[in-house]
Amino acid sequence: MRDNSLEYCLAALDNPVQLGAHLLPQVIAALTDVDVDLYDVQRSAWTNPLIHLRAVFDIHDLPETPTAFIPVPDVATTVSARASAVVCIAALNSDTISYGSENDGHLFVNLVVLPGDGDFADKSKSNMRGHTDGVSFPVRGQPHEFDQRVAPSPDFVCLSGLRNPNSTTTTVMPLSAVLQRLTSEEINELTKPQYILRPQKTFKRGLRKLFGKDSPLLEVMAGIQLLFETEDGYWIRYSHSASETDFDSELASQAITRFEQACQECSASVVIAPGDILLVNNRIGLHGRGVVGGEAGGDSRWLLRTYGLDTRKLRADQRYPDSSFKLYP
Ligand SMILES: [Fe+2]
Repeated sequence: MRDNSLEYCLAALDNPVQLGAHLLPQVIAALTDVDVDLYDVQRSAWTNPLIHLRAVFDIHDLPETPTAFIPVPDVATTVSARASAVVCIAALNSDTISYGSENDGHLFVNLVVLPGDGDFADKSKSNMRGHTDGVSFPVRGQPHEFDQRVAPSPDFVCLSGLRNPNSTTTTVMPLSAVLQRLTSEEINELTKPQYILRPQKTFKRGLRKLFGKDSPLLEVMAGIQLLFETEDGYWIRYSHSASETDFDSELASQAITRFEQACQECSASVVIAPGDILLVNNRIGLHGRGVVGGEAGGDSRWLLRTYGLDTRKLRADQRYPDSSFKLYP
């Protein structure tokens, strides 16, 4: 960034795959200097759902905290926060991506306290229980229930810290630890296609905007499998909406109750400080957060969020032809 104009650096963020490939050799060289093999980092990212990188980028010129998900203000600090996230995701063999159905497909969004007293505003201040992002989209390798174009949910959720005045915690629950607290019968229940899921609010708004209020993608999904056995252990898709149903089977509902309970018991807390990056593996971990509270704007809490996904097996029709990073829907 020292050698290039802000405009040049901003334009580079329009092609995150190219930017990641351009920056990655410097990261690999820096790792080699401290005797760390990138492969070991990648392996670690798939066994431990949380990588907390401290003081990754400098904070200089921040405006007031925005009061909406988009746009991210274009100043040097947010550019370095974004470029750092892109190269972190590239280092994990993933591409930085967005979905057209969330926040107009912006690659980075502000996670901030929202003004007013609507649903979104309330949610932006309150705590969040363990969930995975993009829960109504399939896990990678699985087809969507009825629309083959729907891209997989993200492999990684990447948070860059800009402000966190009250040291609000981000919580991560490692799936392996959660499952250790369940019986094999309960684990088996979670692998059956018998649960329901609702699309998350930010996606609902975008889906309505793109496809109208009658889109089947907006509906509650039934017959959903939450837990998947893969070559590398279990993967999860989960949100609290999975527990909002009456089950025929006692054990199906018991498995959810015990799973929620285990999530609370296995929750690790991280404070994302300004300049930090947190990478959460969205397959082998759930995430949530503590209460944010306070007022919108000013010096209130401000994170940037983006997603990472291994896109090697994506088909062309799961992308938008006019974007290098935006996925369907
Ligand atoms: Fe989330």
